[in-house]
Amino acid sequence: MKNTLVGLFIMLASISHAAPAHSLTVGEGLVDPLGFHDATPVLSWKLPVGVEKQSAYRIEADTPRDRWDSGWIESDRSTYVPAPGAPFSSRDRVTWRVDFRDEKGRASGWSQPATFELGLLSAAEWKARWIRPAEPTTGSASAAEREPVALLRRVFHVEHPGEKIARARAYVTARGLFDLHLNGRRVGADHFANGFTAYHKRLDTLTYDVTTQLLAGDNQLEARLAEGWYAGRFPFGGNKDGGGPYGKHAALLLQLEITYADGSTQILASDDSWEGSYAGPIVSSSIYDGEHYDARRQPADWSPVIVDADLGSARLEPKPFAPVRVARTLAARAITEPQPGRFVFDLGQNMVGWARIKVPAEKDRTITLRFSEMLKADGTPYTEAYRSAKSTDTYTAAETGLVEWEPHFTFHGFRYVELSGLPAGAKPQLDWVAGVVLHSDLPDTGAFVSSHAKLNQLQSNIAWGWRGNSVDIPTDCPQRDERLGWTGDAQAFCATSMFNTGAHAFWKSWLGSIRDEQYQDGAVPPFVPTAMSRWAMRSPGWMDAGTIIPWDVYVRTGDAGVLADNFAMMERLIAYYRAQATDGLLPKIGGFGDWLQPYQQTPPKPGDNMSDRTGDTPKHLLGVAFYARGAQILADSARALGRDADADRYAAEAAFVRTSFAKHYFDATGKLRNAPETQTAYVLAIAFDLIPADLKPAAGENLVRLVREAGGHLRTGFLGTPFLTAALDQTGHADIAGDLLFKESYPSWFYPINQGATTMWERWNSYSHEHGFGDVEMNSFNHYAYGAIGQWMYERVAGLAPDPARPGYKHFFVRPLFVSQLDSARAELETPYGKASSSWTRADGKIELTVVVPPNTTATVELPGGRAPQTIGAGTHRLEQP
Ligand code: BGC
Repeated sequence: MKNTLVGLFIMLASISHAAPAHSLTVGEGLVDPLGFHDATPVLSWKLPVGVEKQSAYRIEADTPRDRWDSGWIESDRSTYVPAPGAPFSSRDRVTWRVDFRDEKGRASGWSQPATFELGLLSAAEWKARWIRPAEPTTGSASAAEREPVALLRRVFHVEHPGEKIARARAYVTARGLFDLHLNGRRVGADHFANGFTAYHKRLDTLTYDVTTQLLAGDNQLEARLAEGWYAGRFPFGGNKDGGGPYGKHAALLLQLEITYADGSTQILASDDSWEGSYAGPIVSSSIYDGEHYDARRQPADWSPVIVDADLGSARLEPKPFAPVRVARTLAARAITEPQPGRFVFDLGQNMVGWARIKVPAEKDRTITLRFSEMLKADGTPYTEAYRSAKSTDTYTAAETGLVEWEPHFTFHGFRYVELSGLPAGAKPQLDWVAGVVLHSDLPDTGAFVSSHAKLNQLQSNIAWGWRGNSVDIPTDCPQRDERLGWTGDAQAFCATSMFNTGAHAFWKSWLGSIRDEQYQDGAVPPFVPTAMSRWAMRSPGWMDAGTIIPWDVYVRTGDAGVLADNFAMMERLIAYYRAQATDGLLPKIGGFGDWLQPYQQTPPKPGDNMSDRTGDTPKHLLGVAFYARGAQILADSARALGRDADADRYAAEAAFVRTSFAKHYFDATGKLRNAPETQTAYVLAIAFDLIPADLKPAAGENLVRLVREAGGHLRTGFLGTPFLTAALDQTGHADIAGDLLFKESYPSWFYPINQGATTMWERWNSYSHEHGFGDVEMNSFNHYAYGAIGQWMYERVAGLAPDPARPGYKHFFVRPLFVSQLDSARAELETPYGKASSSWTRADGKIELTVVVPPNTTATVELPGGRAPQTIGAGTHRLEQP
């Protein structure tokens, strides 16, 4: 087909003066945060549609002490501008607004104000002490079970009842998980606070506004405290003295600060004036095993708490991103009764969170909730793949009657809920069970829609895979006895996550945990937080989360801070590779290989229970590939930070490693040597630019040959799959990349969809209608790694791709492929500058492309067919291609 561009219409709204800036944010895109974490924040804003470009800005910032005015600054910068007046102090409340001039020099007028309020920035601000109830004395929880959820309480008076309260803040953290009630009302809407960090290094603190919740006279503050990731059973970690990986008992640190209108203050801190009990209704609650609630248990005696005045060595820092909250609720769609008295509710979607029940209950009787992602052939829950995670909740009723209940400190990965223990003769109704979906409260920012139902289902599965695996940290899976921040899975999926959600702050926080957990020798652990586990694998493709994630976040946000924060960590990681290398090769490196590559030919090694999963691409080749890629990212990061000498040095190192790779692994014809020919080896050589440009076409042909030999199927694992379509595409085989994406048979992206998948699966055949369930030892139905194809769907199928040279979509590419399987595709993204989109439709043999370029940005349109690229400015553009 001859591709000619027949028309280009720019539809800029004609305006006489610009409307004010909007969507003011601080730091990593945070909207009016309370308990903000950074004393020297950066500010961002968006320009209204209709404006082409900003020529100058002016910021005004008010703190209780001062007013700061930046004056007019000639600049088109509207993201990550250092806040005037910084550094700020703990508790500072800053109100700011921005004025800008457009491309014609017209001032917009002031924006609506935005605020941020700092939390307690360091341990020095804390007068509180760690508290917990005195040891549980009853044997109510068996040894195999866990410490009951602790109750803590304190009654207090507002000291200046005559005086108006100007503001009241509760600063809280836990070694474990907490929730808080003030005068019987829940404080905030967060779950699993304070979240999962490397607790021995860093504890996140939460800040709540309780100004309007305080009463003039007596007030009662109550906290519940669960073991969580800190002190709970942790199947993968080194559990301490029958406790969790970090400690034996959960504890609370809380400081309520009341400021009166006359400036006087009152502080109520956790200390020896509190009372506690372990005799509350939550008999136990474990992230992995579930929650057991006995409504008959109410604390009879409250005793003085155990106090620890030593705050500990972990840093106390405001939580830098949104906590887990309820995102949505799913209604049950069907009920079956595969066994008498056991009712199975189908929510129609594999999800993560818990079930809220509203059921008739009988006094002293226990209702049991079991969960599963799939059903067995007989309709009963398939729970075997949870491995040791019991994932069971129970509710024991104190009275006969209707009960409404949900757990608090556990979560499950499930589509089906089995209820048993209901009163005899009960006739379950659909509204007896609802699925409460929980994840870190990340805004949805992207959409991908096409004319193909299965491709849209794939997008949905990718989005659900991320929802279920962004419960405070990026996890491999949300259901079995694992749920860990596996670094390999995370680096594969990070770019895609940044299309679907505003995950900037989320990743930045987790990178902080990577810095906290980096090994002495510079390697990055296989999962983070490591939960004190003795697992110390140093694996190519996993370690590299340390370089790839900062870079992916930077490219998609334009926030150079993420590179600056992590630069030393990245340097240490590359130094680790360097120390292992001989002549730019890594003959001895270990790792997980190209994990879960289908149809592995390499025979497993006796006694190595992972060796049947590590694929055919040798670890030494993967090691050199990721070493070269990481060194190049480090060089590019140094360049972006203006560290030119470092940039030159690391660029030379990257070039040296690439040359070693090419020389050792490729012959002069572009064919692999010194390693079995695998799709992944070719994919990485092409996608990571490891071979000279003149060898790439031949390498591409060899890759195509391997795909054809596999009947048009992929033969890649966790490391090759994310780049497979891109490598084909880059070497002129976009049609074959398209065929792979739309392939229906095993292994392929559509294969699980054909078996009923509503999330991404760990294996392409975790279940099949033909063969039933896959290897039960490792069979998750909610694993985001293979969802990394999302990046290619956005960037190439719809055609909306960032430009690493002008990151954060300051400039971006529109490069749609117009694959033959589709009649239309659209990608839409809320970028740091506003909405961008690329949307194409095929009709009457023509293609119509609509591109939205946000204010203050430009885009370059590159259409197939060899036409010269065209750069366009802000606005909505229609292009046609016959
Ligand atoms: C996890 C992964 C992880 C892998 C490492 C598995 O158990 O679920 O996805 O990357 O282990 O080998």
